[in-house]
Amino acid sequence: MASVSPVFARSLIGWQRLHGRRDLPWQGTRDAYRVWLSEIMLQQTRVATVLGLFPRFVARFPDVQTLAAAPVEAVLALWAGMGYYARARNLHLCARRIVEKYAGHFPQTAAELAELPGIGRSTAAAIAVFVSHERAAILDGNVKRVLCRHFALEGAPVGAVEKTLWKQAESLLPAAADMPAYTQGLMDLGATRCTRRAPRCADCPLITSCLAFQQDRVQDLPTPRARIEKPRRVARFLLISDGARVFLQRRPMTGVWGGLYALPEDAALLPRLGLADSLPVSLPPRVHVFTHFCLEIHPLLYRVAQMPIPDDATLECLSIADALQAGIPAPVARLLREIAPQATGIGAHGSKPR
Ligand code: ADE
Repeated sequence: MASVSPVFARSLIGWQRLHGRRDLPWQGTRDAYRVWLSEIMLQQTRVATVLGLFPRFVARFPDVQTLAAAPVEAVLALWAGMGYYARARNLHLCARRIVEKYAGHFPQTAAELAELPGIGRSTAAAIAVFVSHERAAILDGNVKRVLCRHFALEGAPVGAVEKTLWKQAESLLPAAADMPAYTQGLMDLGATRCTRRAPRCADCPLITSCLAFQQDRVQDLPTPRARIEKPRRVARFLLISDGARVFLQRRPMTGVWGGLYALPEDAALLPRLGLADSLPVSLPPRVHVFTHFCLEIHPLLYRVAQMPIPDDATLECLSIADALQAGIPAPVARLLREIAPQATGIGAHGSKPR
């Protein structure tokens, strides 16, 4: 492992205090609820998107007790706009665990936090740093990139390389009092300077010690992961709509898009809606990529003059505008906007670039 000097932490802390982000609504507080909420939101969503949604979420769920007492559907609905809804389900589970097991008080240490639903090792560390100034290392995707470049570490940052990175990250930590600025500095550097595609090395506080920069290998590191072909599944999405409303079905709580409203897929319901002989319009097929598989979506649009009365209690007739405000998967939202461009709704998910 490359030798570590305190210059790394000192340069980063100095830079963060001058150039980093210091006025975000979840900063300047040691309230574990707000810090936890923001860190979960920021796991896969850009700061700019979280800025728009965090105040609304905190206004509706001002503390962990209120969140735990709410139905999960209400949490999913307020999560609309951020995508990756498993986070919202885990957030709710976690709130319930904190109320039941810890009487509503967040545990203080990273080790205890990492035992809770939805809180991995890096997120646990971030929360413990910002709330308790614990000397715990973070290692999210951005930080992996910063360290791989700084120490010119070869190999995709998984498995043994990831283990080395954790050790490296732990060896770099400053004194407890400087931990929040240091940790925020690492996050800010990864998001605004040491970016994947367009790194701004000339503005980087670590340029003098960055091995990738010295070796002209910034663009080559971190080593990309080997691409593995994902299995492909195929589904028909039935869009039954009079132009203003649409039938949706709530998905089971387990599995992909658990608990979200989505489009029905089972053609067996068509005869029961009097649509057995209707000819649908095929909209362009599209592919949605999940972690473990790709879903090939074939949307079929059934335009009806009047929404039929379903004999199936799982079908819910929602206005397209309301559907766009509820918790719905991104490709469903995209389809609804395609068939009803006039319907308002929160824009595309502000996912973090990878
Ligand atoms: N990404 C994850 N946590 C973050 C934070 N606290 N500030 C900015 N970006 C982040």
